[in-house]
Amino acid sequence: RTVVILFGGRSSEHGISCVTAAGVLRAIDRSQFNVILVGMTRQGATVLMREDDLADYRLEAGALPEVHDNGTRVLWPASTATQTITVIEQTGTLRSLGHVDAVLPMLHGPYGEDGTVQGMLDLVDMPYVGSGVLGSALCMDKHVVKTVLADAGIAVAPWRTVTSEQVAADPYLVESLDEGLTYPLFVKPARAGSSVGVSRVVAAAEIPAALTLAFAEDRTVLIESGVTGREVEIAVLEGRGEAAPRTSSVIGEIVFSGRDFYDFEAKYLGAAGVDLALPADVTDAEFAAIRDAAVRAYNVTQCAGHARIDFFLTETGPVLNEINTLPGFTPISMYPRLWEASGVSYSELITELIELAIE
Ligand code: DAL
Ligand code: MG
Repeated sequence: RTVVILFGGRSSEHGISCVTAAGVLRAIDRSQFNVILVGMTRQGATVLMREDDLADYRLEAGALPEVHDNGTRVLWPASTATQTITVIEQTGTLRSLGHVDAVLPMLHGPYGEDGTVQGMLDLVDMPYVGSGVLGSALCMDKHVVKTVLADAGIAVAPWRTVTSEQVAADPYLVESLDEGLTYPLFVKPARAGSSVGVSRVVAAAEIPAALTLAFAEDRTVLIESGVTGREVEIAVLEGRGEAAPRTSSVIGEIVFSGRDFYDFEAKYLGAAGVDLALPADVTDAEFAAIRDAAVRAYNVTQCAGHARIDFFLTETGPVLNEINTLPGFTPISMYPRLWEASGVSYSELITELIELAIE
């Protein structure tokens, strides 16, 4: 069977997506799958890539990988009648890349994790891994997903939301943004990931700068109360039959030792002061509460395929932080590691996700 690994993309998580793709390429079972590599440039052009192009994709400060426009263009099926994709070579020649069984959209953030690419693939009935249009779009928007989760009775951190237009129209608004919230605050773009554009704010005077940083990513921004609790993550997989969806049998924990925020540097660049504990040391009751909240959240937001759901574990139970419908999939990422610790290898996980997409 043939699969397309689609990576890069228009969001600020472009480089992380490239590293995710390289990890998947190394682990995918070649005895079962032919792989076509399609990179999406920061401008949204889809180009045909060679395996060599991904050979040196790695996480490195200041030098994250990037998909460069090599002049080719990959064309998706023109109708539901064919699952064949085509490349326009640099010379202008058209060449069929043959039949494609599924697409793995290994894209993070807007224009990839948010339903846009999923909608494009739905238009031509091309199977793909992960959530559909609605689940993707819902989970991408931190304001909308919190509204839906809170309505379903799942605990989320107190928050309020502002748009750049509201702030521009009312200069006094910024002064009242922290009303009813508890410091430290977290200021976050509604639609972004990997902590890009997120600030931890300990005093009101820091809010304007935090807003500027967040508005650079999205015109809608959330101001959230910091939650006192351990930061834990669980992996959910669509599964089959009565066991669906199922979760990893362990959870992971972000353990802070000197750093106070799990930011981009700590997530990907090995900055000191944050460690991952896997499996996290939790009681059976704590695990059950996290698993139940994760499964309910996965179902209520119409996720499919896979999702990593992040929580604060507080004295009164889990508080959901966010749902990642295309979680980081680099070999050091929490999602594949959670499954590995639960007895599902990185390669088996990729095979299962593809099979779920094709079924
Ligand atoms: N948004 C990043 C890739 C994650 O959630 O893992
Ligand atoms: Mg995220």
